[in-house]
Amino acid sequence: MHNTVKVTDKIYWLGANDRRTHLFENMWPIPNGVSYNSYLIIDEKIALVDTLEFGSSDDYLEKIENLIDGKPIDYLIINHMEPDHSGAVKTIVEKYPNIKLVGNLKTFKIVDSYFGYKEKQYQVEDGDELSLGHHKLKFVMTPWVHWPETMMTYDLTEKVLFSGDAFGTFGSLDGGIFDDEIEFEEYYQVEMRRYFSNIVGKYSNMVQKAFKKLEGIDVKYICATHGPIWRTDVNKVLSLYDRWSKFEAENGVVIIYGSMYGNTAKLADCIARKLSEEGIKRIRIYDASKTHLSYLINEIWQYKGVILGSCAYNSGMLPTMENLTRNLEHIGLKNRYLGVFGSYSWNGGGAKALFKFQENMNWDLVVDPVDTRGIPGNESFERCETIAKAMAEKLKT
Ligand code: FEO
Repeated sequence: MHNTVKVTDKIYWLGANDRRTHLFENMWPIPNGVSYNSYLIIDEKIALVDTLEFGSSDDYLEKIENLIDGKPIDYLIINHMEPDHSGAVKTIVEKYPNIKLVGNLKTFKIVDSYFGYKEKQYQVEDGDELSLGHHKLKFVMTPWVHWPETMMTYDLTEKVLFSGDAFGTFGSLDGGIFDDEIEFEEYYQVEMRRYFSNIVGKYSNMVQKAFKKLEGIDVKYICATHGPIWRTDVNKVLSLYDRWSKFEAENGVVIIYGSMYGNTAKLADCIARKLSEEGIKRIRIYDASKTHLSYLINEIWQYKGVILGSCAYNSGMLPTMENLTRNLEHIGLKNRYLGVFGSYSWNGGGAKALFKFQENMNWDLVVDPVDTRGIPGNESFERCETIAKAMAEKLKT
C-alpha cells in the first residue's frame, strides 16, 4: 500500500505529513511542516500506537484496512492524549467498536473528558506488559514529556521504543522516513532543536528522568510521534536530547534586541562587532519585533552567550522583548551567560526590566547592565563594548 512503510516485518508507519498548518498548537510556525506518526503492530493481536491529528489524513482507515485485511484492531495504545495524536481516536473506536484503549490513570482522566469510553479502558501502570502473541510490549511511564499522562511503549521483542513526543522534530517527512534516508544535520537537526526548545524544553528535568528510566534498555528503533524513525544511529538522537535537556549549549553568542527607532539596534551591532574583534566567530543578531519567538528561543537554546537589549517602552521593555523574556521565564532555561543593554529618551525601563529578568532566571550576568540615553555616541558604544569584552572572556574560559 502506498504511504505505509514497514519499520520491521510486522510494524508499520502510518504517518501523515501536514504542510498546510501555519502554526503548530496555533502558536509555533511550521514553514517546513510536521509529521504525525501512528504505528501499527500486526500480530495475533493487533495494536495501533497513537493516531493522527484530526483531518490530517483522509486515507488513514483505508491504509489500516489494507494491512489488516478485515481483522479488528484489538488495542489502541495512547502514549499521549494531545489532540495531534488523539485526533483520530473517535474514528478508530467507531470503526473497531470492540477495541481496548490502553493508557494509564492520567490518560483516562483526559480520555474521560474528551470521549468517555469508560468500558473500553484498559489501564496499565509503570512496567506492566502486554502480549500481542509474538510481540511483548512494556509500558514505561514518562510523565510530562510532554503532558502529565505521557508514557512510552517498548516492544521487548523487536526492541522498538514508541517514544511519544520525545525525540520528535518539526519538519515533514519528505520521502525519507528513517534516519539513514535523510540529511539530518542540514535540516532536521535544526527543526528538532526548535521542536525540543519550543514544545518539550520546559520539561527538561522530566526528560532527564525519562532517560534514567530508559537506562539499560536495548533500543534498536525509536519511533516518535513526529519526525523520522531512528534505526541506524539511535545514539545520535539520544545524545542530542540528553544535551539539550541538560541545558548544554554551543560556544557562540546570540544578541536579541527590541528597538523602536534604531538606537538599540545600533548598540547591538556595536556589541557584535566587538565580539568579533575579541575572536568570537559564531554571532547571531535578531530583532525581536521581526523574528518569531519560536526561532529566538531556539537560538538561545543553541548558544551559551545571550545578550538582550531593549529600548524603554512605557517604562518597561518593548513588548516583543517582554514576550520573549516572559516565555523564557516560563520555560525555565538554565545556565547561560547574559549581557544586558538598553536605550531610552526620557526615562529608562528596558535595561532595568532586563536586569529584573536576569534576577528571575539566575543566569550569569557577565557585567553590569548598560543603559544609554538618546542617539548613541562614542561613550555609549564604549560602554556597550564592555559587555562584548566580558562575554568573550567568559566564553574563552
Ligand atoms: Fe505531539 Fe504533545 O503532542
